[in-house]
Amino acid sequence: MEPAEAAKHLWPSTPAWPVIGHLPGMISLGLVPFIESVWRELGDCFEFRAGAETIKVIVHPDDVEAMLLRRRHKYTKGASYDQFRRLVGRGLISSEGALWRRQRRLIQPSFNRDTITALGQGMVAQVDVMLERWAAADPGGGVIDIHAELMRLTLEITGEALFGLRFAEDRASISTREFSDALGVVAARITAPLEAPRWLPTPGNIKLERAIASLDRVVMRIINERRQGGEDHDDLLGALLRGSDERGDALDDELLRDEVLTMFLAGHETTAVSLGWALWQLREQPEVRARMLETIDAAVGQRGPTSADLPALAYIKQVFYESMRLISPVWTGARNCVEPDVLGEGYAVEPGTRVMNFIWLTHRHPEFWDQPERFDPERFAPEAIAKQHKFAYLPFTHGPRKCVGEHFATLESVLVLTRLFQRVELEAVPDFEPEMDFQLTTRPRNGLMMRWRPRARVAG
Ligand code: HEM
Repeated sequence: MEPAEAAKHLWPSTPAWPVIGHLPGMISLGLVPFIESVWRELGDCFEFRAGAETIKVIVHPDDVEAMLLRRRHKYTKGASYDQFRRLVGRGLISSEGALWRRQRRLIQPSFNRDTITALGQGMVAQVDVMLERWAAADPGGGVIDIHAELMRLTLEITGEALFGLRFAEDRASISTREFSDALGVVAARITAPLEAPRWLPTPGNIKLERAIASLDRVVMRIINERRQGGEDHDDLLGALLRGSDERGDALDDELLRDEVLTMFLAGHETTAVSLGWALWQLREQPEVRARMLETIDAAVGQRGPTSADLPALAYIKQVFYESMRLISPVWTGARNCVEPDVLGEGYAVEPGTRVMNFIWLTHRHPEFWDQPERFDPERFAPEAIAKQHKFAYLPFTHGPRKCVGEHFATLESVLVLTRLFQRVELEAVPDFEPEMDFQLTTRPRNGLMMRWRPRARVAG
């Protein structure tokens, strides 16, 4: 619906306190459970007040499509990304307008299907290195924090595939810790109702500044070492170093740093979290696990999978996609309105308003997902996908700002799951319950403890 005089200016809302608005509910339940409870009461369009700011929430795929695609000129990433900009500056995820378009054109080719095909073998080799490390510590199997392991694995895969790095041989250079700390503080600021000013030496500010300084050092070292090497490389870093700005000059150091950091930040935790929750959810799905094993046996047997096996491993992808529907690693999107719009059943959106599209809830919308809480990979069989509303499934979002790493992450996840299933069995540890922490991604706060053991029919 286009703006019309008849647009309703009052969005549905639950009773709020003066000044603090809905903060008590958000704090006592947690933001996501609070928003979910309001959605169940009020439906697909509503607003809530986090202190002084009134935020609109949309859940229906038609509204998400309007905001992210059809009327996207009325929305920008704007102030919703200010915290993120503190970390990644003008990197692809937070930039806008002409700079974003130019950078996306420069970066996109490194992520096209054909380009990433070559990366599959390296990804599987990294899984083998991880499994050898587990076996060296505990040959018969043992208990591990699969979340921590996957964070390390995806960091190493991203580093090698996009920047030609071997962290395993250079452990001092980088660790998941700095990324995790930096993202943790940024997320806390985005979701915290009250924010301490940046100049205050709060523990959060100090932690963030330290993490940024340490990430800066590593990233600049990566860039400088590549420059000094003098060779032309066919990876993302090579493309960035060959790239130029609107005047035809090479990208400045600051923008290079922003892009390299963006790729690490956007690429490694999202994938680790998705894979971790997939393995966790599968512990309760014996039939799905059995079918995965049959698929893997038929497609690749004991040999290491490659990108060419992806069509035969389609069921593994279906499982991964269903897992991300139920636990989407990115649980919301957000935009700032810059031109008047109307969403839902005629609700006005004024410039300056922040609108959140709650991915977590769209993935549970009963109009689009039959028995939404049931784990069912058949939802992603080709015939079923053809009938889906495209904007009902948003782990990578849609529209021009969709994830540039979607094919990379899908390839990586299918190959990692396949290799893990070939070589080990993973099961729950009695009495361990993970806690979901809705940060920038759906991190498990206390990790994901699982027991692993070598699979009897070890792959070659
Ligand atoms: C399962 C894994 C992943 C998930 C669920 C995911 C999800 C997303 C989502 C939801 C967005 C949109 C964010 C927004 O609107 O603010 C996004 C953007 C982005 N992602 Fe991913 N991502 C994943 C993996 C990756 C990987 C592996 C990379 C790169 C190595 C990557 C790089 C990016 C970048 C650069 C953007 C910004 C794109 C733009 O605005 O043009 N992502 N991702």
